Amino acid sequence: MSYDDAISALSNHALKFVKNDYVIGLGSGRAATILVKSLAKLIKLKNYSIKGVPTSLQIKLIAEKQGIPLVEIDQVNHIDVVFDGADQIDSQKYVIKGGGGALLRENILFGLAKKIVVMADKTKFVKNFTRTVPVEIHPLARNSVIESIKKLGGKTQLRSLDRGYPFFTENGNIILDCDFGIIKNPKVLTQKIKQTTGVLESGIFLKKPDVIYKAKINGKFDIL
Ligand code: A5P
Repeated sequence: MSYDDAISALSNHALKFVKNDYVIGLGSGRAATILVKSLAKLIKLKNYSIKGVPTSLQIKLIAEKQGIPLVEIDQVNHIDVVFDGADQIDSQKYVIKGGGGALLRENILFGLAKKIVVMADKTKFVKNFTRTVPVEIHPLARNSVIESIKKLGGKTQLRSLDRGYPFFTENGNIILDCDFGIIKNPKVLTQKIKQTTGVLESGIFLKKPDVIYKAKINGKFDIL
């Protein structure tokens, strides 16, 4: 049994939030991929008419292959439910996202969503955030944002590909992975990050999930 078995089991459980005619936000990453595959089976079984809204090319390719009808974010004015993974979840139920670089579109979907469902394995749950915060910025604001983040107590690392080239998001921007140590007040920190000119999105999302699934190593899961 692995975390993926648990994510698979909890995906089937989470699909109870899906109804016919729903507009469904499709997050990015491993957990979202497992969910999308289960969702495709449900749609076929129940003959549901569903529109999926992808948050990245990664999940778009998976959803397309599974035959899920897709529309882009700007073609909908609401999302009934969004399913997504997370990089870290703190005890106040804030989430850090953006490990895969899809944070901007993911947060737009969180904002539009009537219900947010997050699925993550046990290792991602912490009392206070300890991992780096991905911050999507305009490439020309790189030096000014680095200075501002430094003033907030953060150490920045420009996200790069394996061979050293900078990583560009699907929106043509770059990402600074920012180390703030242990983050005790994610809300205030995020507000300060987002006030910085040139910052397009912060990986700490201020809108909290409605439902959080915690996958355990024995293939079981908890619902928070
Ligand atoms: C994409 O940018 C991220 O926000 C992912 O949703 C997050 O990294 C979780 O991915 P996994 O489910 O692959 O851990």
